[in-house]
Amino acid sequence: MRIVFLSTEVAPYAKTGGLADVAAALPVALGMLGHHVNIFLPKYGFISEKTHGLRKLSTDVVMRVPVGYATEGVGVWTTDTTDTNVRVYFIEHFWFFNRAGLYVDPRTTQDYSDNPARFAYLCRAVLETIRALKLDPDVIHCNDYQTALTPAYLNMAYTADPALSSTATLYTIHNMQYQGRFPRDIMGVINIGYEHFYPGSAFEYWEQVNFMKAGLTFADVLNTVSPRYAQEIQHSSEYGHGLEGVLRSRSDDLYGIINGIDYGVWNPRSDPLIPHPFDADDLTGKAHNKATLLYLFGLSAPPNTPVIGIVSRLASQKGLDLLGPVLSTLLESDLRMVVLGTGEPRYHDLFRWAAETYPDKIGVKLGFDDRLAHLIEAGADLFLMPSRFEPCGLNQLYSLRYGTLPIVRETGGLADTVLPYDPVQETGTGFSFSDYTSEALLGVVRQALDVYRHRPEVWQEMIRQAMREDFSWTASAKRYVELYEKAIAKKERISAATDAKKSRTSRR
Ligand code: ADP
Ligand code: GLC
Repeated sequence: MRIVFLSTEVAPYAKTGGLADVAAALPVALGMLGHHVNIFLPKYGFISEKTHGLRKLSTDVVMRVPVGYATEGVGVWTTDTTDTNVRVYFIEHFWFFNRAGLYVDPRTTQDYSDNPARFAYLCRAVLETIRALKLDPDVIHCNDYQTALTPAYLNMAYTADPALSSTATLYTIHNMQYQGRFPRDIMGVINIGYEHFYPGSAFEYWEQVNFMKAGLTFADVLNTVSPRYAQEIQHSSEYGHGLEGVLRSRSDDLYGIINGIDYGVWNPRSDPLIPHPFDADDLTGKAHNKATLLYLFGLSAPPNTPVIGIVSRLASQKGLDLLGPVLSTLLESDLRMVVLGTGEPRYHDLFRWAAETYPDKIGVKLGFDDRLAHLIEAGADLFLMPSRFEPCGLNQLYSLRYGTLPIVRETGGLADTVLPYDPVQETGTGFSFSDYTSEALLGVVRQALDVYRHRPEVWQEMIRQAMREDFSWTASAKRYVELYEKAIAKKERISAATDAKKSRTSRR
């Protein structure tokens, strides 16, 4: 199968969250299954041509893409990856992408005001590049709202194009919160006629343009990144963020596939980013990593003091509002906390306050640091992820593999992947709570600390159970192939029906 995989973040080139990890690992897993994958992402200003060995392609065709009244040129770069069957392409546009941020301007901490133009351009530029390079994909796999106009353009502007008219689309929802909602006058910017903007149309949502709604409407098949989230988003506005009706209307085409993780990158035995390797049979290295971790955060603690780690985008999704009211109580008990994150100023304030008030108990780094993220996974005893909603979540999966028992809220992918501690059987791979309240959070942290302190043999067994869990991509990649097949079959049915209709009309 020939697959085009479109994402605005792909590790290691550009990353703000889990999408980057998925966009790096899933194509490789598909490549291993014998499929050909061409990944596309924007060529951001911070992607070093030298470090990544990028080279510019000279295409015979000069590609131009309409954006509002202008037409914009497209530059295409690539890199020779060592992964079988996978190639990465970078879409170059100096004005749109040669910037320091992906979505947000780091100077203002606000979204770039021209995001609709940037991402509409990206979708069309990818379609034009597919034609110019004769990639002939069976399916285009779009991810999140920034890529959601691709199925719309395909169905509106390329139906007569032999290179693309039979190409199917899969749209993966990694997060319902970010929909790409913009004022109606951007219809001109994205070059879709105003006649397509009316109440209930594919583009209109409460008098705004909604990129995600267009993706959900036009893509042949939809999926999200865990079975539980696939249900949640259809059945409540809290999870569906207003698009639950649209999702329900496509319920037959909406699937949930749990993300995998790349055990080549996240493996405590071979991880080059942690100082002391370890595995389930010998956890000595884990204890050394814990010592290094505390040292790096300027903390000290007697042995057997539990360490709780957090690595997170500091956003409302992550449930940090629950932590605020009980943070003092927690930090007054016998534990240490290490926090790595960046995001909304109010959470920066919360953790800065905690670090100033409890300097012996909590270490905080407000920033993005891949190496430190690995060390926290390796060195902490517990990993806290009390999300309000969580489409899948990768950090709890990394935690399981590194024997760092996750404390999670029972939602989305967290509920699908963490086996909560059962006090009767004394089994589980982590701890979980259901009610979105600070009391429930505090209760489960106390339960975890209790097992840590008083049931050391149960704790060790839970670690071993957690480390044995298998969330490799192989199984999920096969499920994606099944979805591609469904999308292709659906596209063929639609094309056959359209052809039949055309020939009926021409005979009349
Ligand atoms: P989300 O995509 O919603 O942020 P996930 O759990 O799926 O949540 O993925 C988060 C990814 O981003 C993980 O790979 C995690 O290690 C990484 N990450 C998040 N914040 C930071 C940070 N401040 N520094 C380094 N890595 C981070
Ligand atoms: C989103 C979600 C997260 C998921 C990631 C990758 O960022 O918030 O839950 O793991 O995408 O699919």
